[in-house]
Amino acid sequence: MSTKVEAPVPEPLSLERNGVELTGVSRSFGAITALEGLDLRVRPGEVMAVVGPSGCGKSTLLEIVAGLQEPDAGSARAGAGPSASSAATRRAACAYMPQRDLLLPWRDALGNAALALECQGVARAEARRRAEPLFERFGLADFERSRPAELSGGMRQRVAFLRTLLPGRPVLLLDEPFGALDAITRGSMQEWLAGALLAEPRTVLLVTHDVEEAVFLADRVAIMSARPGRIVATLHVPLPRPRRLTDARLVELRAAALEALA
Ligand SMILES: Nc1ncnc2c1ncn2[C@@H]1O[C@H](COP(=O)(O)OP(=O)(O)OP(=O)(O)O)[C@@H](O)[C@H]1O
Ligand SMILES: [Mg+2]
Repeated sequence: MSTKVEAPVPEPLSLERNGVELTGVSRSFGAITALEGLDLRVRPGEVMAVVGPSGCGKSTLLEIVAGLQEPDAGSARAGAGPSASSAATRRAACAYMPQRDLLLPWRDALGNAALALECQGVARAEARRRAEPLFERFGLADFERSRPAELSGGMRQRVAFLRTLLPGRPVLLLDEPFGALDAITRGSMQEWLAGALLAEPRTVLLVTHDVEEAVFLADRVAIMSARPGRIVATLHVPLPRPRRLTDARLVELRAAALEALA
């Protein structure tokens, strides 16, 4: 797979200034406190991985950054300029890939991939035309007309991923993007994403349960506590790219992250 990711739609927000900043964020659902006093800053162009126990509020955190939820207390900013704390600016700055692939069963793969562009006002035929060249790059050639039910789990995930990248938003929010994939596909998708981000940097918040994936892809790894979730440690990954999973320093950092999680 080639490593270039195109941004086919003119980008309204400047990447240089598009970071993410959460300050004192709390969020409860009835009696359940999902997040409490969470602070997190992702610099523009930085890849930040977030790892933490199941149910500690990782998906809630991404939904808040994406502008789909508001914190009960504290502030969330994503994007550029003085309006970065408004939910509308956060939604415009962020491309959010939810934990489940959420493809529309009645649309073929190409129609699903084109969806985010259509939501931006691009005409359906034009959106399909822009999505089509990426199918080969994502290992989906010849499946453009297949419906989600006819695709494997990994292929569905790749269609969802393609849909997320296509509008060229400066902030990528990825919730366990490779969680449903088999080990071999996951490895090649991790390599692909690392290369894509090298070729075209974006600000990335990557939620993963896979500590190895976190240190392989990220500049820093934020470690969350059990619920109520907050960031308890941040690990720097000062390794040059391209990285190799077998690099001894990466193996060491993985062990350090696991220790911080324990
Ligand atoms: N819309 C909601 N209504 C009620 N409770 C919710 C809602 N969304 C999340 N929660 C609760 O908030 C807590 C955090 O959920 P969240 O999905 O953010 O965790 P997570 O870290 O993403 O978990 P996992 O690793 O299993 O994906 C959980 O206890 C969950 O039940
Ligand atoms: Mg989750």
